[in-house]
Amino acid sequence: MEITNSKKEQIAVLTGGGDAPGLNAVIRGLTTKAKRYGYDVLGLCDGWAGVLDGGKEKPLDLDEVEDIHMIGGTILGSSRTNPYKVEKGVEQVKRNLVRLNCKYLVAIGGEDTLGVAAKLYKDGIKVVGVPKTIDNDLSETDYTFGFDTAVTRASEAIRNLHTTAKSHHRVIIVEVMGRHAGWITLEAGIAGGAHAILIPEEEFDMDMLVKIIKNREAKEKNYTIIATSEGAKPRGGDIKWKDQKVDAFGHKILGGISEQLAKKLEELTGKECRHVVLGHLQRAGAPTAFDINLGTRFGIFAADMIKKGEFGKMAALHGTQVIPIPLEAAVGKLKTVPKERFAEAKIFYEL
Ligand code: F6P
Repeated sequence: MEITNSKKEQIAVLTGGGDAPGLNAVIRGLTTKAKRYGYDVLGLCDGWAGVLDGGKEKPLDLDEVEDIHMIGGTILGSSRTNPYKVEKGVEQVKRNLVRLNCKYLVAIGGEDTLGVAAKLYKDGIKVVGVPKTIDNDLSETDYTFGFDTAVTRASEAIRNLHTTAKSHHRVIIVEVMGRHAGWITLEAGIAGGAHAILIPEEEFDMDMLVKIIKNREAKEKNYTIIATSEGAKPRGGDIKWKDQKVDAFGHKILGGISEQLAKKLEELTGKECRHVVLGHLQRAGAPTAFDINLGTRFGIFAADMIKKGEFGKMAALHGTQVIPIPLEAAVGKLKTVPKERFAEAKIFYEL
């Protein structure tokens, strides 16, 4: 454990929740701008778990963050720990920040991490937030970083699956991340040429899928690609999640929809059906240039918010501008796919 004896004011930074490509760009942007303002920066390892336990901090300087923006994952590690679910967790967080000589905190994360940050702000901590999630489901920001990389990866996979599906005259169901919001499935599905797109926001109809497959067959297009969000549900609900475990924030650990859908569609159409779960490949590896640039801007803006004393706020992208938004507003409700956006995808269905 290293406790810095710096006389400068110190900013602590942590990354929480599922990793997203662009996290290291935020850390580099924040550290570089904060150093220019004359702050020290201390990296707290493994999200809120690291703040609770203490002992695994990393002082960040310009050498430490050089070139990290091009690398995926997070140099600080992450976890899904919730300090509000740990007995005396908040007191422990406060105590450790004081012990580590950190006056300010930057929390980089999605609805869960930022939800904790919003509460900590009310509990007296000078915190600012940076929105991260490949799901792009955070309110009050047009985009979160990580999303563009996930869409790029998923759309490439969906596009590539056409050749094998076509060669074997199969139906292939591609399972894409997104628990409550279908943004990745929608955008990757459209870009990758999926013939049907299933998202959590709207229950899907099994008969409709059968119809699309049969209609394509009638036109001698003997294969079909279906992109489904992991959180999509059929009308009537006769498909169950494989695993009913929940994480520390109460989210069901999803998975299994594509496998079950493949079985069902094989029964209903008599066609050979296969499923592919893209899983963590969607958020693994290097970020796209878009995510690097957005992460960099958010990191710089987080340093600016601290300098200006804008605590309890989150950096948000509105159009092309990065602006401060109260954390509470950002975590109040999820940003899901509106009906009219989903309708754009449906005009391509062969019904
Ligand atoms: O929250 C981002 C996300 O990638 C979701 O899309 C997905 O459901 C979840 O994380 C997976 O979490 P884990 O990596 O903990 O399995």
